[in-house]
Amino acid sequence: MKRPILIHPDPRLKKICAPVADLSDELRLLADDMLETMYAAPGIGLAAPQVGVLDRLIVLDCEKDETAPPKPMVMFNPEVTAASDETNTYEEGCLSIPEQYADVTRPAGVQVRWLDRDGALQEQEFGGLWATCVQHEIDHLDGKLFIDYLTPLKRQLITRKMQKLKREKAREG
Ligand code: NI
Repeated sequence: MKRPILIHPDPRLKKICAPVADLSDELRLLADDMLETMYAAPGIGLAAPQVGVLDRLIVLDCEKDETAPPKPMVMFNPEVTAASDETNTYEEGCLSIPEQYADVTRPAGVQVRWLDRDGALQEQEFGGLWATCVQHEIDHLDGKLFIDYLTPLKRQLITRKMQKLKREKAREG
């Protein structure tokens, strides 16, 4: 089932999310709903706070080849355990900040540890778009958005646009 995506600014997008203690069926259903919501948007990553749930859970699929099978990943309690000195700059966007994009520089490669959908501990290295996306999504779990990397002026400009968008949406009902 698709879930509504919160639009910035929203206090729930600024919260530190709680680690998941037990993988319940409810959490697995949430992960499935988040994947469905992400693919429908369409997007390449989504974090639980973006659907109003303050748990440490992210989903992503950065497979760019449209002829390749989808590569959905579900990560509970994801953690960056190592990061490269080398950096990469990508033009980032966010489903909670629709149609706004800006360059963000992050480590080019990261090692990430997480619990998968079955509760098994996984650790893997990511590069390219996957590395950027997984860092962007983990940031969400700490109440951090990609616009927090921009200058205060740019951040304010984008936030004002989002406030306007939300007012328009509210009027439309
Ligand atoms: Ni995002």
